[in-house]
Amino acid sequence: MFKVSLITRDGAAITFDAEPSETLLDAAERSSIYLPSSCREGGCGACRVGRDHGDVELLPYSGSALSDVERDSGDILLCRAQARSDLALHAPFDQAAVGYAPIPERRAVISEIAPAGSGAVRLVLQYEDNAAFGRAAQFTAGQFVELSLPDGAAKRSYSLANTPNWDGTLEFYIRLQPNGAFSSYLKDRAALGDTLLVRGPQGQFTADEASAAERWFVAGGTGLAPALSMLRQMAEFGDGRGCRLFFGVNRVDELFALDVIEDLKKALPQLIVTTCVWKPEAQWEGFVGTPAQALTHALTGVAELPDIYVCGPPPLIAATESAALAANVAHTRIFSERFTPA
Ligand code: FES
Repeated sequence: MFKVSLITRDGAAITFDAEPSETLLDAAERSSIYLPSSCREGGCGACRVGRDHGDVELLPYSGSALSDVERDSGDILLCRAQARSDLALHAPFDQAAVGYAPIPERRAVISEIAPAGSGAVRLVLQYEDNAAFGRAAQFTAGQFVELSLPDGAAKRSYSLANTPNWDGTLEFYIRLQPNGAFSSYLKDRAALGDTLLVRGPQGQFTADEASAAERWFVAGGTGLAPALSMLRQMAEFGDGRGCRLFFGVNRVDELFALDVIEDLKKALPQLIVTTCVWKPEAQWEGFVGTPAQALTHALTGVAELPDIYVCGPPPLIAATESAALAANVAHTRIFSERFTPA
């Protein structure tokens, strides 16, 4: 048994014991400490922390979750690391992101499912009544939940596109991955009334309410979902600060949720939307390129630097971070959520 000490970004010390045979994420949960995570299998990077002292063995993981540079600088994935000595770690999140009760699990039925552009679906679930939670869908705009198939054969994390509500509605935009177990279910077998298990809410990709800066959202494909959630929340709160949305897809026929974006522009008159298509067919008259390129243009000569929220595949996150840093946006004002194929 080894001792693990984890210091959060705001200086809180969290300690727990770890057996050599368990991952650090499981070890923490055995002590009722629920650290930020998502896929739990080395694919998403949500559980990445820094290591100051001590040795770990890393189980197999994806290079998009932990790059060689990050690993060489000492970073580890809590869901893939087993202790081989006492450990001193530091976390990129605040203590507020740490849970001390199990993540809620609830049942929800499919109430709507329909195509959303080519290659994605819009899925709406309705929570069943629950003794502990009633019917309400309680979460913070920008968070995700993990969905499990009725037979338990596959589970996958998806960001919510709507806002917290009392009637228990959860809305998602989900990219269909070729041969993905969850995607095959959604494409071929999902039916209205099917029951899914929902584990969540989870995640720290939420608006920083302590900041007065403008909010600029950079979204690749279905990475639009958490941006819609946060923008809809701003509309509900009557938040008048400047905001922009850079929404990008590869081809014109992949565009989706344009009606939702139009409604948002009415509710948030200050919202400026740039819709970007990387490889458009001839008739496209909007921005040609990636949302990170559109961001680069928009940041040129801007008077007040915005907070940047980026969600999408790892290359979009990397391109957005370098565009924002080049324009002098501080690293701490760039918030990201990686979407990884599954
Ligand atoms: S939770 Fe560890 S990499 Fe996804």
